[in-house]
Amino acid sequence: MTSSAEYLAGRISETARRLRPNAIRAMAPLLTRPGLISFAGGVPSAATFPADAIARIAARLIREEGSRVLQYGMTRGNRELAGFVVDRLRAKGISWTSPESLLLTSGSQQALDLLSRVLVDPGDVVFCELPSYIGGLSSLWAAGGDLVGISLGDDGPDLDELERRVLAVRSGGRTARLVYTIPTFQNPSGITASASSRAALVELAEKLDLLVIEDDPYSEVYFDASAPPPASLASMDTGGRVIYLGSLSKVLCPGLRAAWVVANPEISRYLELAKEGADLCSSTLDHAIAAEALREGLVDDRLPGIRSFYAERCAAMLAALQREAVPGCSWTLPTGGLFVWVTLPGSCDARQMLDACVDAGVAYVPGQPFFVDGSGANTLRLAFSKEDPDAIDAGITSLFRIVAAG
Ligand SMILES: Cc1ncc(COP(=O)(O)O)c(C=O)c1O
Repeated sequence: MTSSAEYLAGRISETARRLRPNAIRAMAPLLTRPGLISFAGGVPSAATFPADAIARIAARLIREEGSRVLQYGMTRGNRELAGFVVDRLRAKGISWTSPESLLLTSGSQQALDLLSRVLVDPGDVVFCELPSYIGGLSSLWAAGGDLVGISLGDDGPDLDELERRVLAVRSGGRTARLVYTIPTFQNPSGITASASSRAALVELAEKLDLLVIEDDPYSEVYFDASAPPPASLASMDTGGRVIYLGSLSKVLCPGLRAAWVVANPEISRYLELAKEGADLCSSTLDHAIAAEALREGLVDDRLPGIRSFYAERCAAMLAALQREAVPGCSWTLPTGGLFVWVTLPGSCDARQMLDACVDAGVAYVPGQPFFVDGSGANTLRLAFSKEDPDAIDAGITSLFRIVAAG
C-alpha cells in the first residue's frame, strides 16, 4: 500500500497542491441540522429571488430563442447584458468602460480566479485586508500568491501600513504589485471604507505603481435609501490601476452566474484568454435570462424591497447584540450588505465555541479563516440574511448564553 504522499508524487501538479479547502464550505455538513438558526451561510435570502418571473423569462427564451440561448456564446459575453452592465457602471461614475475593458463572467468568483491567473506569479506578494473574503484569498493562493494582510479599521485599510509593507517587500527584491480590497459592506466584516480612504488608496496605488482589485458585490444593498455608500475606487481612477468586479448575485440571484470585471483593456485581453481556457463562455442561458431580467426592471424595481428586507434583519441583529453581548465584546455597525462582525473578549476562541453553539441551536462562522496571518481567533462572522428577525433575536440570545458560560 503506497502512502498518500507517495501516490501523489508525480501525479498532482504544484498548482493543485496549493489549493486550500474553503473553511466555510467545509462547515456545510454541520449546518444542515433541522431547526438550526444559522448565521453561517454568507448567501442572499431566497425570499429575495424573483423565482416566478425568472421561470417565465427562461421558458420564453428557450421556447422562442432556443437556437441562441442554448448555443455557445462569445467569450466576452452576451452583448445585451454587457449594454445593461455598462449603463449601471456609468450610473456609478465608472465612465471609462468600453467593449475592450468589460468581460462578463460566471460569477465574480470566476473573475477573481482569472485575475489571479493573469496577475499573480508564484511567490508574488499580494496585499489583502485583515479579514478578507475567503473565496478571493483561495484564488490568489491557488495562483501562488504570498498573501500579506493589512489591518482593516472602521473606515478602511491602514494605508500607512500598506505603504510600509510594499516598500519593505520591494526592498527585499520581491514583486509586490497587487492589492485586493472589498471597500463596500465588506465580506466578512460589514465595514465600508470612507470616501477619503478610497481617494487615498487610489492615490497610493498611483504613487507606488500598484494594481487594485475592487471587489464590489454588495454596494447596491445599502439600507438607507437616502445614504448610498461612497463612490467606488474605480470611479476615482484615472490611471487604469483599479480593476472593478460587480455581480448580480446579491441583487437578483446567485444561481444565474452573472457578473463582470472591468479592467484596463491590456489586462482585459489576458482575462479573455484565460476565460477561453476556463469555460469558453459563461452560461449563455444564464446571461440571456439576466439581460432580460435587467430589461424588465427585475433588479431596479425590486432593489428598494431588497434593501429594506436586509435593513430589518440587520437592525434586529444589532438590537439583539446590544442587549445580549457580554462585556468586552464589540461589533461592526454595517449600513448595507449581509454581515456583522463580532470581536469577543480576547480569551474566547470562536472555533472552539462553535460545537457548543450548534448543540444549542445556533451557528456562525469563526473569524480566523478570514485572516491570512492566522489571527482573529476571538472573532466571528454573523450573516443576518437567512433568518427572520424573531429567529435572529433567539439565535443571538443562545449564542451569548454560550459565550457567557465560556
Ligand atoms: C466579496 C465577495 N466577492 C465575490 C463573491 C462571489 O460572488 P459571485 O456569486 O458573483 O461569484 C462573494 C460571494 O459571496 C463575495 O462575498
